[in-house]
This record gives sequence, structure tokens and C-alpha cells, in this order.
Amino acid sequence: MTMSSFLSMEHINKSFNHVPVLKNVTFNVENGEIHALLGENGAGKSTLMNILGGVHQPDDGAIILNGQTVEMANPRTSQSYGISFIHQELNVISDLRVYENLFLGAELKNRFGFVKVEEMCDKTSDILAELGVDIHPKTYVRHLDTSYKQMIEIARALLHKSRLIIMDEPTTALAEHEVDRLFTLMQNLKQTGVSIIYISHKLREIEQVCDTYTVLRDGKVVGSSPMKDGQLDEITKLMVGRSVSEERLTEPYPFGQVALEVKNLTREGFFWDINFTVRKGQIVGFTGLAGDGRTELFESLFGYRKKYSGQIKIFDRGVTINHPKQALKAGIGLVPKDRKENAIIKDLNVIQNMSLSSMAHFEKAGFIKGRAERERFNFYQQKLNIKVSNPKATIDKLSGGNQQKVVIAKWLEVNADIIIFNNPTQGIDVGARREIYQHIVSLAAQGKAVIILSSEAPEIRKVCHTIHVMYQGEVTAQFDGEEATDDEIMSYATGSKRRR
Ligand SMILES: Nc1ncnc2c1ncn2[C@@H]1O[C@H](COP(=O)(O)OP(=O)(O)OP(=O)(O)O)[C@@H](O)[C@H]1O
Ligand SMILES: [Mg+2]
Repeated sequence: MTMSSFLSMEHINKSFNHVPVLKNVTFNVENGEIHALLGENGAGKSTLMNILGGVHQPDDGAIILNGQTVEMANPRTSQSYGISFIHQELNVISDLRVYENLFLGAELKNRFGFVKVEEMCDKTSDILAELGVDIHPKTYVRHLDTSYKQMIEIARALLHKSRLIIMDEPTTALAEHEVDRLFTLMQNLKQTGVSIIYISHKLREIEQVCDTYTVLRDGKVVGSSPMKDGQLDEITKLMVGRSVSEERLTEPYPFGQVALEVKNLTREGFFWDINFTVRKGQIVGFTGLAGDGRTELFESLFGYRKKYSGQIKIFDRGVTINHPKQALKAGIGLVPKDRKENAIIKDLNVIQNMSLSSMAHFEKAGFIKGRAERERFNFYQQKLNIKVSNPKATIDKLSGGNQQKVVIAKWLEVNADIIIFNNPTQGIDVGARREIYQHIVSLAAQGKAVIILSSEAPEIRKVCHTIHVMYQGEVTAQFDGEEATDDEIMSYATGSKRRR
């Protein structure tokens, strides 16, 4: 539009299998600005960025960079124009070391063609230090937790001294203080004239860090302006077409009997001396930073990891859990946090993915399976607004957030007495988040014992009766949901304060 726009994507159209996904989209980014690209799950954000990144070709439209029309034939071309892409689906290679991932395709070599391992390691260490990440450059990525993998993606983009960095949900797996570090870095990059396109469903982050926003709805641009304070309601409305309440969802009410009791649970190197109870009807949250041990703790409770010491009691009966089957039998269900690694089966279609682990449920009900499946699917499709043009297509054709909605819907159907949700709203848009939490609250009201693990304290405060804060494998504080403030939770999560 303006002469000075560093990047203009003009009149972009894109269809997949004759379904239009981007409709005449025009999108401008200026030099040295942080530009938020917003919209519900399936609105077309990643598709637009994949076109800029040379992953997909537009059906028509133009990309103009610094006044020149450019063709992004493939990801390499895009990179050669100084564009780095942090992908929504983590793109790191598990069998390579951290520094190898960072320098992949751009290895430093000396004049004899030998790779300069130590120099690459030093540069890797420098960037990781800037990001505040404490991992050795020679660590194999497969040993790392998701949040570190995300940091590696970010580090790789920073390394390449790009002019434009696309960040497609870079903070889904990060805890708040890591997000703060990233924001500081983004501000510094901005000062040097680097432009950033920032995609996120965490609207508070958007308000904090972005200068400009553009909202996509059903593949069309429905708004674009400078970011001002106090605009989030308005932006939400643009995104989902209605306002979304910010109020607390859960009220205190009398709980039932103790469903789960954990005493002195310890797994050396991961978590120590954990004690808590969850009653029927109660929603208990666990929060903390990366490396706080909460995922390991609950994976142990679910039988993914053996060799813990301490006691687990379910409805007052001592149990030993060494395998997920034992956990399920004892009445525990776990919604895994990483849909890519644990929760979806790429070769199955959307409906099949949703009914996968609740198969027994469908069969017991005595329906013809196909019809029951279809009805459940329709119910959740409407409730969570799952955007899917063909439910019989494989699930990987869905946008990231819509895949996550399918996974969540599947688990909302599981008939366990104790349900553990690990980061249930990761990558989910603001409207559907509210629906998911409402559903979780109604599960509790039906007498389920619910545990939510989340790095987003402000969010779980709205649904949890009790919140436990973890730091380096220990519970450092316990709050009533209403009593806790975000700052207080943060000071226990960072270890600067502790109480039991
Ligand atoms: N390779 C593909 N084949 C078919 N359809 C696709 C493909 N990639 C994306 N789509 C469809 O295009 C639409 C937009 O998807 P896109 O991934 O751009 O959404 P998004 O805005 O990034 O959403 P999210 O917030 O969930 O990541 C969705 O309806 C999706 O199903
Ligand atoms: Mg996306």
C-alpha cells in the first residue's frame, strides 16, 4: 500500500482441493515492526505464511519485497531473501545435536572444507545464553523437552541474521519467563530494523509486544491497524465474531470423597516428595516453568515412567502404576500435551482420530459405530467450532489448532474418574478455549476429579479450585484458585520464594 512497505503480499488467493482458504488477502509489513497476524483456528494464518516462506504457491497474487516482485519458489528462495521461519509444527531433527540443528544446511567450514565444530558450538552457546536456555550445544535433541525444541527453532532463526522473521506460535511450549526473554530479544531485533510477523493465540502477548495487527477471518482480512492498549475485546470480536467472557468459570462448592491421593512421590532426578489430593468434583492445577517436573510427575502417575517411590491411593486403595493400562484400569485418563508425538495418528481421518481411544465407549452404547461416531463428531465440531471441510480426510490436512481440538474432543469423551489434562489449550483460539474450560468445569460438576497442567497461570486461575506451583521438581506453593495472583505464582515458579 504505502511506498515504504518492506513487504506487501497483494491479492493472494489460495485453495486446497477447490476449497478456498485465502481470499484476496492483502497484507503489509513495515521495516522494524512487530506485526501480529491473528485469527481463529483455520482462518488461514499458517497458509499465508507458508506462501511467504515458499512452502506453498499462491493460486494468484503477488509478493513484493523492498519494491521488487519476488517469486518464492521454495523455502530456500525465501531464506535467500532474508526470511526466517519458525514453524508452528516444530521442525527440529531429533537425531542431530543442538548445534547441528542450528547450523543445518549452513555449516561453518574452514578453507579445507572441514566443519568448524567448536566455533559452531560457541555461537550456539552464545545465542542460547541470550535466550536464557541452559543446554549444552552437543546434546542430542531427542533428549530434550518440547519447550527446548521450541527454543532451538527460535535460536536458529536468530542465528541467520534475517530481515524478516516469521514466528508461527513460537511460545506454545514456553513458560512465561521464557516468553519474556523472547520478547526482549524481539524488541532488540526490532531496533536493528528487523521485521517480525507474530502469530499467537495468547492475546495478552500480542498486546504486550506487537505494534500492528491484522485479523483474518475465514480466509479474508477483516481488520488491520496499529495496536493500542485496551483493544483486545475488539480484536477478539473481529476474530470470533462475538465477545468472549473473561470471568472466572469455577465456583467453590463442596467436593466429594478423595479420588486421588499422592504421598511422598519421588523419582530421583525429576521430582521429589510430592504430596497432594484431588477430590471428586475438584479441579486442581499444576503450573511452573519448563523443567519444573510437572510433566514427568504426571507421566509417572499415568505409568509412562516407572521407578518412582512413594504412595498412590485411588479411592483410598493403594495402587502401583507401571503401565498406562494399569492407570486406565485404575480410572486415570491423561490427555497428552504433544499432539504430534502422542495424540494423533496421521494416516487416520478426522472422525477416526476423534473416536480412537473412546472406542469402547461407542461400542458399549450399542449404537452402530459409524453413526455414533459421526454424531459425536458433529456435536464437538459445533461446540468447539472445528474447521474441517472434509471429516474423511486425513487429520494432517487440518490447521494446527483444529487438530488439537479433535484431540481434546476425543478425551472429553473418555470415561475416567480422574482426568489429567496436559496443556489442553495449547494453540487453541480464544473462543474455543473458553468452551473447553467450560466443558472441563462441567466434568468436575459431574463428579470427576480433574487435574490441569499448564504453563499459563492466568488462564488456569479461572478454572482451578486449587493451584500447586512447582519449581525444579518440588511443589513450592499451594493456593486457592481465587487467592493466587499471577505475580505471586511467578515468584514461586522461579524459585525466588518458597513455602509448603
Ligand atoms: N495441505 C492442506 N491441504 C488441505 N487443506 C489444508 C492444508 N493446509 C491447510 N488447509 C486448510 O486451510 C485452512 C487454513 O489453515 P491454516 O493452517 O492456514 O489455519 P491457521 O489460521 O494457521 O489455524 P491455527 O490457528 O489452527 O494454526 C484450514 O481449514 C485447513 O484445513
Ligand atoms: Mg496455524
